[in-house]
Parts: sequence; structure tokens; C-alpha cells
Amino acid sequence: MTDHTGDPAMDVVVAGVRFRSPIGLAAIGGGSHFGKPDADPELEEDVQLQFLLGSIESGSSCVYINVSYLSEATLRKLAGGSVPDFRGEAPRIWADRFMRAVTTVPPYGVEGLYSSVSPGPSVPELEREGALLASQKRLVQALKEKRPEGVPIIGGLIGCGGAPDAYVDAARECEAMGLDLVEVNFHCPLQAGLRGGADNPQTKVFLPFSHGGLMTDHPDLVEAIVREVVHAVEVPVGVKFSAEVGFPRIVDMARRVKAAGAQYIHVGGAAVGIAPPDIYNRGRPSWPFMDGSPFCLVSGSWMRRVCYRDVAAVAKFVPGLDIVASGGLVTPEHCIEAMMLGATLTQMCTGVMEQGRGLLRRSNAFLQKFLADQGYGGARELVGLGLPYIKYSEDVDMMPGRVVVELDQDRCTRCGRCLNNLCVAICSEHGTVMVDQDKCTGCGACTLACRPEALRLVRRAS
Ligand SMILES: Cc1cc2nc3c(=O)[nH]c(=O)nc-3n(C[C@H](O)[C@H](O)[C@H](O)COP(=O)(O)O)c2cc1C
Ligand code: SF4
Ligand code: SF4
Repeated sequence: MTDHTGDPAMDVVVAGVRFRSPIGLAAIGGGSHFGKPDADPELEEDVQLQFLLGSIESGSSCVYINVSYLSEATLRKLAGGSVPDFRGEAPRIWADRFMRAVTTVPPYGVEGLYSSVSPGPSVPELEREGALLASQKRLVQALKEKRPEGVPIIGGLIGCGGAPDAYVDAARECEAMGLDLVEVNFHCPLQAGLRGGADNPQTKVFLPFSHGGLMTDHPDLVEAIVREVVHAVEVPVGVKFSAEVGFPRIVDMARRVKAAGAQYIHVGGAAVGIAPPDIYNRGRPSWPFMDGSPFCLVSGSWMRRVCYRDVAAVAKFVPGLDIVASGGLVTPEHCIEAMMLGATLTQMCTGVMEQGRGLLRRSNAFLQKFLADQGYGGARELVGLGLPYIKYSEDVDMMPGRVVVELDQDRCTRCGRCLNNLCVAICSEHGTVMVDQDKCTGCGACTLACRPEALRLVRRAS
């Protein structure tokens, strides 16, 4: 176990539930190979258990189990035709593939991850045989026996757009299993890559596999489902959205789910992407061993910008809703940044896939030391510290006229890059860069170009 376990300074509380630290493993589905002809459910289950226990051992403060279920009542509704029957599709072979997104120009490095899935039978379809749920029940039982205090198990609710009752069915099963929280998954971006996904906002017709992110094209339905789930169970309910909701729509979504009784919101997450074509191979897919390039899931570093935006937007405009953040948090500093913008719990997924579970251990150790070194009484004190500084543009004092750029000729290498900006204040005389401070507005654009930091912003001498 990592040192932070049992340190009350690391405790945080989300939706009334205690987490032993604000850094945990995000949901990583895709471990189930039920659609494969040679699937071995027992092996799958064991691998998933070892994976989750390993993450707890490495310091994760939570684990996720995806749960889906169709009750008899929901099946009867489907049979009676009162909701569209989405189960006509023949099962296909399930497959997934991952690819790193790397920019070779330093200092960028790994930007993130592309993940693609070709879906097998829909999860509720499998559920008719009860195989998946039975497996999840055994998994939860084993986890509950072995997990330490302060590591809640979160049930990720996988439902179906065509059968909204499935979310309630899944929530009830989570509660029956004794899970600590349920999180409605309006996040998964993978469905966008299915045929019909791009037409979803217009057609309003649910795909057989429609759930996750596509559901957010239907905000009224999102709100209604959350309300039903909240009424159906006593465990705290949260809702996970993806970056695709966008700003400012995430504010509307947050207000809706709060009004519907959700106690926390999980924002940031992953997004829909398309992998680059191989420019040295006549535009063929850069995916290994794939003959096409689907709209896929992108996660990792490049999601951080959106994660911070959505955390800050919800924290600022929808107070009173606990916030869980994931998306591009690949260092401990990122977790602290997300907390200072308003997140109580932060989660890592791609970072752990790339760097290994040691990232969870290192991040928790870093945070524990950070709290002591910086004089904080506990992790909770970090939450929202940066929020007072999130202001409307017109309320920010950008100190016009009081900031100016200063040039240090000793550092200047005369590379000339700063001269390529649209600026009347900077010029070159016989190869020497000159700044006319009277004309300089202090915008800072030229400093972006200056690698040796010969140009820097300073207060204008009065
Ligand atoms: C391989 C993979 C599987 C994922 N599975 C799930 C899932 O089952 N449920 C879910 O809510 N999110 C899932 N996610 C999203 C992550 O939990 C996380 O929100 C997202 O990847 C952003 O965090 P990151 O940038 O640290 O990866 C998955 C992401 C990846 C890369
Ligand atoms: S700070 Fe802006 S205005 Fe001043 S020299 Fe640089 S680019 Fe020009
Ligand atoms: S970018 Fe910096 S180093 Fe290059 S010419 Fe301008 S001031 Fe000099």
C-alpha cells in the first residue's frame, strides 16, 4: 500500500461518500470479450479483478464496474412495442485497438491516445442471458472482500437510448450489489463512430447501441433518465459527460442533472476523434492492421484543456454539485490543477495505460508531500482555490498600458523569429532586434517566438 492510505489529510468526500484520496483510476471498460467466439468469461473476470485490485494496491481511491441490465418489465415493454426494439442486429465480432498520438516535434511528445472499438452484441442484448451481470456480481463480491476503507466502488450505468428504463434497471442492480455510487454514463464517445451516429441530432432515432455521449443530443431525455434513476435508488447518483457536450452546453447539462437530483457530475472525459491519414502511404489509415479509420475515442494529454474548462464552468456556474474530473490528467500536478479549478475527485486513465499503475502511487505520494510542503491542512482545501480568479473577460484587469516588453540583447541570438509577428513596435536594424517601448502594447506575442527568453514582459516604468 502507498503511504497516503490512512492519512486523513488526503480524504475527500464526493456525494457524501468518503474517498481515501482525491486521485483514482478512471473507468476502463473494454475488458469484456463476450462477443468473441473464443471468449473465456472466467479468465476475463479474473483479469479484471486483478487489474482493479492492482490499481487499489497502487493507491487508487476508487474503482469502476460497468453495469447494464434489462429487467423483465423493460423486456415486456420492448416486446409490446411501446419503445423501439433495438435488438434486431446480429451479433458481430468484438474487437478493439489502440494507437498513440505522438507529435515528433519537441517538446510535445505524446498528445494522447486513439481507441477504437467495433462492437459486438449490445451489452443489454447479452444481458438477456444474464452472463455479464452474473460475472459483475462475482467481481463486486471479490472486490468488497479485499478493498480497504475509503475505496468506493462506482457502478457505471450503461443503458440504451431506445430503452431508457435500462438505466434504472442497471441502477437497481448496482444498489442490490451494494455499490457505493452509481454514475450514469452519458460519456462514451465510441457510439459516434457507428453508422447513423453522425445523423443522431437530426434523426433522433436511437442506434441499437446508442448510449453514452450520443444521449446528450437529447437533453430532455438525459434529464428525465437522471430523475428516474435518482428516484429509483438510494445510493448517490452522479452523471458522466464527455468533452463533446462543449461549452457552454455543459453548464446547461449540469443545471439539468442537478435539478434532477444528481449529487455529482463527472466532466472532461474523452472525445470523438479521427486518426491522421498516413501521408507517406497515399492517405491510408495510420491505424495498425485496419483497413479504415472510424470516428474513435480520443483521450489523454490533449483532453486536459477541455477538462479544465468544463470543471471551471460547472464550478463557477452550477455551485453545489460535486465535481469529478478526468481527461488528460497525466501528472500529479494536473490533478492538483483540476482540484483548484473545482474538482473534488480526479481520475487518470490514459496516463495509467501509458505510464503504468505506478503513476497512481507517484501522484498520491506527490500530493501528500505537496500538502505538507505548501502548508495545507488537507486535500479538501485545494478544491476551488483558483475559482475566484475565473472571471468574465471584461472583469479581468489586463493592465493595458502598464505592461511592456523588454529585450535582453545579451540573450538574443538574432534568430529573427520575433520579427514575424504582426507588430509595429519591433524591428531589426542591421541584424539587431529593437523594441520601441512607446509603441509596445505588452501583448506578449513576440515572447512566444523567443526560445532564449530574451524578450519578456515587465511592468512599464512610470
Ligand atoms: C480504453 C478506455 C476505456 C474506457 N472505458 C470507459 C468506460 O467503460 N466507462 C467510462 O465511463 N469511461 C471510460 N473511458 C474514459 C475514461 O474513464 C476517462 O474518462 C477518459 O479516458 C479521459 O481520461 P484520460 O485522458 O486520463 O484517459 C475509457 C477510456 C479508455 C481510454
Ligand atoms: S509585446 Fe506585443 S506589442 Fe510589444 S513588441 Fe511584442 S508583439 Fe509587439
Ligand atoms: S526571437 Fe528572441 S532570440 Fe530571436 S531575434 Fe527575437 S529577441 Fe532575439
